[in-house]
Amino acid sequence: MAPTIASLVTPGPILDGVGHSIRHVSEMRDYFADSASVDAIVGAGDREVYAFWEIEYQGLGNGLSYGMTTVQPGKVGREFHMTKGHYHTTEGDEIYICLEGQGVVILRNRAGDVKECEMRPGLLIYIDAGWGHRTVNTGTTPLVFVSVWAPGIEHDYETVRREGYPSILDAEE
Ligand code: F6R
Ligand code: ZN
Repeated sequence: MAPTIASLVTPGPILDGVGHSIRHVSEMRDYFADSASVDAIVGAGDREVYAFWEIEYQGLGNGLSYGMTTVQPGKVGREFHMTKGHYHTTEGDEIYICLEGQGVVILRNRAGDVKECEMRPGLLIYIDAGWGHRTVNTGTTPLVFVSVWAPGIEHDYETVRREGYPSILDAEE
């Protein structure tokens, strides 16, 4: 699903353009544990895991950044489809608002504490500064959510790649 910007009532510019990224299984080799399953999926033509839009908008004040993500249903090995996950490099909070589907946001701080928040339509998840976040689709339909974050935040994916990050396994083999 693509976001429709219904009302730009303030005169500010869109700062960094409108980003649209699609992550396929082939780009997530470092994130899914079962490399044989990754190879099998990529060999069969690859597939989309998730896609997201990002907009950095400068309003009358400091502006806000926002986006929309769709995680497709599916598994790689026993792991459910998920986002790469990241930390914010600068202090700044974020909210996720679930529109469709079913899943979990996994939060992890740099001390290694982990929390899981349910995602279902209508739930709003507040992500405090300092907590990394990865979104997992545990359902059978696309998981769609809106995200809004503080201006000027940079995204740190390297720590997730280096240290690893929790995921969610299907109980069924
Ligand atoms: C922004 C944010 C989301 C994610 C999006 C894709 O701070 O948390 O908009 O960027 O859900 O996930 P990643 O960035 O982990 O690939
Ligand atoms: Zn974020």
